[in-house]
Amino acid sequence: MRMVDLIKKKRNGDSLSKEEIIFFINGYTTDAIPDYQASALLMAIYFKGMTAEEQADLTMAIVESGAQIDLSSIEGVKVDKHSTGGVGDTTSLILVPLVAACGVPVAKMSGRGLGHTGGTLDKLEAIEGFHIELTSEEFVNQVNELKLAIIGQSKNLTPADQKIYSLRDVTATVDSIPLIASSIMSKKIAAGADAIVLDVKTGDGAFMKSKEDALKLAKSMVEIGNHVGRKTMAIISDMSQPLGNAIGNSLEVIEAIDTLKGIGPKDLTELCLVLGSQMLVVGEKAETLEEGRGMLEQVINDGTALELFGTLIEAQGGNRAIIHDTALLPTAKYKIEVQAARSGYITEMGANDIGVAAMLLGAGRADKNDVIDLSVGIVLKKKIGDSVQKGDVLAVIHSNTEAVQQSESLLQEHIIIGDEAVLPPQLIGEVIHE
Ligand code: URA
Ligand code: CA
Repeated sequence: MRMVDLIKKKRNGDSLSKEEIIFFINGYTTDAIPDYQASALLMAIYFKGMTAEEQADLTMAIVESGAQIDLSSIEGVKVDKHSTGGVGDTTSLILVPLVAACGVPVAKMSGRGLGHTGGTLDKLEAIEGFHIELTSEEFVNQVNELKLAIIGQSKNLTPADQKIYSLRDVTATVDSIPLIASSIMSKKIAAGADAIVLDVKTGDGAFMKSKEDALKLAKSMVEIGNHVGRKTMAIISDMSQPLGNAIGNSLEVIEAIDTLKGIGPKDLTELCLVLGSQMLVVGEKAETLEEGRGMLEQVINDGTALELFGTLIEAQGGNRAIIHDTALLPTAKYKIEVQAARSGYITEMGANDIGVAAMLLGAGRADKNDVIDLSVGIVLKKKIGDSVQKGDVLAVIHSNTEAVQQSESLLQEHIIIGDEAVLPPQLIGEVIHE
């Protein structure tokens, strides 16, 4: 087999066979295929696309390029959840205990935040003592015993994805739907998931700005998952404004605890109930989404989901008392109010720039190696559609310095107040099964 023939084939719009895709992935991972040939193929894929079968073959070739987590000794259907990333997206912290409390084992691998988006691992580290490094054995044992565990991404999974992603980054081939779909799905499958629920974000703060692209990506991923025997569902959800009210690590842990108590923000709660019921369906604990939703509401109302979050914290080295006393979490020195400059209605809350405002306070990283301040962030007091009077508090900045002008101006600039009332954006869009 010659790489040049594969490039020509894809350039002409033909489909690659499974053997050809494996040849490319293995050759590139072992440095037998040079960057320039891999780049040419990626660009041909960018323009010509891939069939559902090619995408499934590509995904599995990437999975097989490295180690895979073996969760077979955990009883039951192992369900994973993935969000394509957003601002203030606290759902994983809530869903892990929520779904586990309904009996679905959740063995979760999470990542860190970069740029305007946050990461679950950083949020968990706001809990003093919480460690995210467990051996595979400890990870599996904890899920068997307690139904839940959250750890950092293991570095030896999907090496082909790591290498291809770096190349895509510098060859303008990141925003190719087949390449994104196979990249995301390969990581979920290598992490051992039997079933996967995907939250594909759309809007200003999301990777996929348009609804059409988000839908295409969701359909591709659902197709890949089901093609390779992992029951997969997806939803499209809005990321034109931040999710919930809190953005920042400690602040989002508090928001997660509130939501597990049943007193969280409405949008965040609703998204967790929608994703959670899908997790119960693909995890074979509920027959229907309605039944799943009822089960989730039950474990919120009777406190078992919150207590299980406490159990997770305790098992991984933290102080479970924080679930009843969030004052034990790191707090910022200053709370600075951002006030409405005029009366009217909130018409926009640019998620991207509000994410940047939080990052500049120290809640996120501009660069992969930046150190973050777990206590800082932003709490929104208004959302799109709310009416405001001049002088009302739009948001509160939590900071360890009084010099917050840059973040404050970003908030003033991107929280837009207009004359006409607007409806809040629709939070949940299409639901995609097969
Ligand atoms: N996230 C991923 O993991 N892979 C992509 O290709 C894009 C976003
Ligand atoms: Ca939030």
